[in-house]
Amino acid sequence: MDKLIINGGKRLKGSITVSGSKNASLPICIAAILAPGASAITNVPHLRDITTTAKLLESLGAKVKRHENSMSIDAADINTVEATYDLVKTMRASVLVLGPLLARFGRARVSLPGGCAIGARPIDQHLKGLKALGAEIRLEHGYVEAIAKKGLKGARINFDISTVGGTEHLMMAASIASGMTILENAAREPEIADLANYLNCMGAKIEGAGTDTIRIQGVSDLTPAAFEVMPDRIEAGTFMCAAAITGGDLRIQGMKLEHLDALCFKLQDAGVEITNRNGTVQVKGPRRPQAVNIKTRPYPGFATDMQAQFMALMCIADGASVISENIFENRFMHVSELQRFGADITVEGNSATVKGVKKLSGAPVMATDLRASASLVLAGLAAEGTTEVQRIYHLDRGYEQIETKLAAVGADIRRVPE
Ligand code: EPU
Repeated sequence: MDKLIINGGKRLKGSITVSGSKNASLPICIAAILAPGASAITNVPHLRDITTTAKLLESLGAKVKRHENSMSIDAADINTVEATYDLVKTMRASVLVLGPLLARFGRARVSLPGGCAIGARPIDQHLKGLKALGAEIRLEHGYVEAIAKKGLKGARINFDISTVGGTEHLMMAASIASGMTILENAAREPEIADLANYLNCMGAKIEGAGTDTIRIQGVSDLTPAAFEVMPDRIEAGTFMCAAAITGGDLRIQGMKLEHLDALCFKLQDAGVEITNRNGTVQVKGPRRPQAVNIKTRPYPGFATDMQAQFMALMCIADGASVISENIFENRFMHVSELQRFGADITVEGNSATVKGVKKLSGAPVMATDLRASASLVLAGLAAEGTTEVQRIYHLDRGYEQIETKLAAVGADIRRVPE
């Protein structure tokens, strides 16, 4: 397994480009199941989770071709409606095939995802919604078995909580159900609007994606379409924190700043300068950031996927900051690793108090999930001396060539086989 070696203390300077969004690409590639024929999806990042998605689609009988950042998915000959434990356990988003398979073929059998490093992550809201659309659902032998003999029928669904995957799942299933579906208390993340745009390109009739009420007028079938995935807002946010934590000056290309308002406000409060000119976002880090508090919330609040990276920044801030995690119950696994750099962090329940120290010192560390890994890379960029980040397969699930991109703007970072 590879590891990253970082010699910290270098100011990042130059231009860095954001890849296509992982969390938009996953449901979009899965939504291709709904339309018999070949869809051409572009701006798909080269990531482990995308490779898993391609394998998942192939296991169902779809033909998948990848060329650079394009992916062609031909779902004409899908010949099985079962997604096995092996695929679902490596990537939870695999469970999203359940709704599209059920909607197109009237039945599906998909392994239940278990918990993961950041929380229990149940799928009760997905299943409640599919039941409301008329599916019979049984849980047996670790699998969800869903049947809709007469097809799915539109319904009004009110989510108990804001769920990104649940909203995406039901939007896909409802797009070829009969009649109108209304999703209330829907999640509003930009990836949901991106998925809706793709579904609409395929002939779906979806309105309101990106707000908390989504109306889906079911159509009888969808036809394949070409689509370009949105840029990855979490990768972009991670680069903004990389500029901030190294006192650097990065020009970030291809990002949409409007997707990161909550992060921007907090970075500005910390003393980071952010300017947006003609699609290039320039981020200049201060000599030392000021401490600021954050609370993670569903979009448009501060993203849980940016919490670990922001915590790394607060480790060297002037003052103490309180970071509350309100989306996942166990998303502080990076704390004990950040402490290995000399960070002063105490955790009580879902709040971490970070007392900024003047300097972090490089250390061997190990990541437990994707964004935790990103926070360790950021801490390593700022720390004095050498950092070894181990178990970087997590990082490879969500960041395209991170070491190449960071090295090109002045980081001393390289990948070595462990
Ligand atoms: N939840 C339930 N029941 C459900 C669904 C969710 O209780 O049926 C709970 C979850 O356990 C969690 C909260 O609701 O506590 C929010 O979960 P959500 O469904 O919104 O998350 P997700 O769809 O599983 C996506 C991203 C995550 C990101 C979250 C929150 C993808 C593939 N994953 O997960 O991304 O953290 O939304 O924004 O889109 C990452 O990229 O590192 C990552 C973990």
